[in-house]
Amino acid sequence: MTVVGEIITEGLGRHFRLTTGGPRSLKESLLRRGRRTTRDLWAVRGVDLHIRPGETFGIVGHNGSGKSTLLKMLAGIFSPSEGRLAIGGRVGSLLEVGAGFHIEFTGAENVYLNAAIYGIPRAYVDEHLDEIIAFAELEEFAHMPVKTYSSGMYTRLGFAVSMHINPDVLLLDEVLAVGDEAFQRKCISRIFDYQASGGTLVFVSHDASAVERLCDRALLLDRGQPVALGATTDVLREYHRRMAAHGSAAVTVADVQAERAGPVRLGATTTAGGDGEVRQRFVEGESFTLEIEVIAAAEVRDATARLGLRDASGLVLARQVLANVDLEPGERRQFQLDLPMLPLHSGDFSFSLDVTAPNGEPLLAAERFAPFSVYSLDGVVDGVLRLGGALQAKTASTT
Ligand SMILES: Nc1ncnc2c1ncn2[C@@H]1O[C@H](COP(=O)(O)OP(=O)(O)O)[C@@H](O)[C@H]1O
Ligand SMILES: [Mg+2]
Repeated sequence: MTVVGEIITEGLGRHFRLTTGGPRSLKESLLRRGRRTTRDLWAVRGVDLHIRPGETFGIVGHNGSGKSTLLKMLAGIFSPSEGRLAIGGRVGSLLEVGAGFHIEFTGAENVYLNAAIYGIPRAYVDEHLDEIIAFAELEEFAHMPVKTYSSGMYTRLGFAVSMHINPDVLLLDEVLAVGDEAFQRKCISRIFDYQASGGTLVFVSHDASAVERLCDRALLLDRGQPVALGATTDVLREYHRRMAAHGSAAVTVADVQAERAGPVRLGATTTAGGDGEVRQRFVEGESFTLEIEVIAAAEVRDATARLGLRDASGLVLARQVLANVDLEPGERRQFQLDLPMLPLHSGDFSFSLDVTAPNGEPLLAAERFAPFSVYSLDGVVDGVLRLGGALQAKTASTT
């Protein structure tokens, strides 16, 4: 038996039957070449969890490690192939982009549809529809079919609905990966409110710093196997250790490089270590070099270039004027930023660059380029920055 907001799994697993090597053409199939074979892939296996009411629980792991499959079992979308699962109370979920939407229906109609799935009465939606649409910032699009929506708009609507159905358990899969920064910040603050109100949250992300910020405990999956379970910092340390050992590509903040068209474009960007090696993974305290190239379509005079550094949730950690820029039409200009010591402790980061004309006109607004990760195996420090210093006990005074 479970109480409201509680999640219990025992030996939970799900497999998929994969068919490989089938005939590739009609001729092959007539000649019975390319014999078809099937094999079972365990996407998730052997997961034992006890998530308590009010807990915020993170699931981390590489792409393909089974995070989404596990969450879909918790959401009741996939039935488990083996093991047991019990959840107390109403479950709200925001899984893959667009899941649960009917593309021909309008945004508003989809709110009703989604609410009905969760057993929310129509009268409640009538009363809250404007609020939901406003939260999703979709006022102008509420009566357009959602097939015309961008992925960010889908996510905003999905998030607005899931937060308004008052779930006891909320399941979020990579929600912070899409949508603009302002909305992500709004999501995070809403998630904090939900946590504060005592809701249970299961949060899936390949982004360790978001998990670190939100979760009390976490599970690390590796090829479907639970390999670490416990306090978030311990689990993330193991995640980083494995990632560093695999030497695989970094967890990138966003491969999305949002760039508005303008008279100045961003060209190639690279990040490199003090050894000059171009890479995206750094160890805390290393020396670091960023190289960027800007390309001018038209003449630029007395413009100002500001470079920003953000963490994975989009929070601006630093923004500073880098240079005054003068460019001839067609000119490509390289800039280099050298940091003798990365001031970051651990997490995923990216840069932004804006170039502004003296009259304030934006010439370039490039965001989330040159993503890189910083690793630390240090268990004493938590958070994105290393504060340094030490706490000294002062002499006791009695009053
Ligand atoms: N519907 C499906 N059919 C077949 N294989 C699937 C299906 N969904 C997921 N998988 C496989 O299960 C494994 C885990 O996938 P997934 O749960 O999406 O991982 P993650 O969310 O951690 O990236 C992957 O190897 C994936 O290819
Ligand atoms: Mg996934």
